[in-house]
Amino acid sequence: MAKIKVIHGPNLNLLGTREPGIYGHFTLQGIEEQLQNIFGKEHELDFFQSNCEGALIDAIHEAVHADGLILNLAAYTHTSYALRDAVTSIVKPAVEVHLSNVFAREDFRHVSVIAPICIGTISGFGGLGYELAVRALLDHLS
Ligand code: DQA
Repeated sequence: MAKIKVIHGPNLNLLGTREPGIYGHFTLQGIEEQLQNIFGKEHELDFFQSNCEGALIDAIHEAVHADGLILNLAAYTHTSYALRDAVTSIVKPAVEVHLSNVFAREDFRHVSVIAPICIGTISGFGGLGYELAVRALLDHLS
C-alpha cells in the first residue's frame, strides 16, 4: 500500500464552471472520487486544495509522511520557487499534472519551475491525467 498526497493549487476548486472550453465540465470532487474508486482499495490517497501559496507549502511539508505526491500547482507552477523549494525539502517523488496542454497555451505557461524536480509531467489529458499520474508514481515506487 502506498500513501499518496494529491495537491491542487489555486482556482482548481472552480473546476466544472471555470473556463470549461479549456478545463472541461468535471469537478475537482469528481476527479477525487474517481481516483478514490480506482486506487482507494489498495492505496491511501489524501487530497488537498488551496488558493494560498503558504497553505500549499504546509501541505507539501505534511507530505513528508507520504510515499509520493501528485501535484497540480496551477498558476504557481509557472512562478513559485517557494513551492519548488518545499517539494525538494521533503525529498519525495512527485508527478506534475496539468489538465490542459500547457505547451499549447500562452508562452508564460510553457515554463514550469516544478517540472525539473518531478519524475515527470502529464499535461493535456483532462481529468484522466490524474489517473495516469498516480499510475506513473506507483510504477516508480514499485
Ligand atoms: C493548469 C494549467 C495552469 O497554467 C493554470 O494556471 C491552471 C491549471 C492545468 O491544470 O491545466 O490553473 O495547472
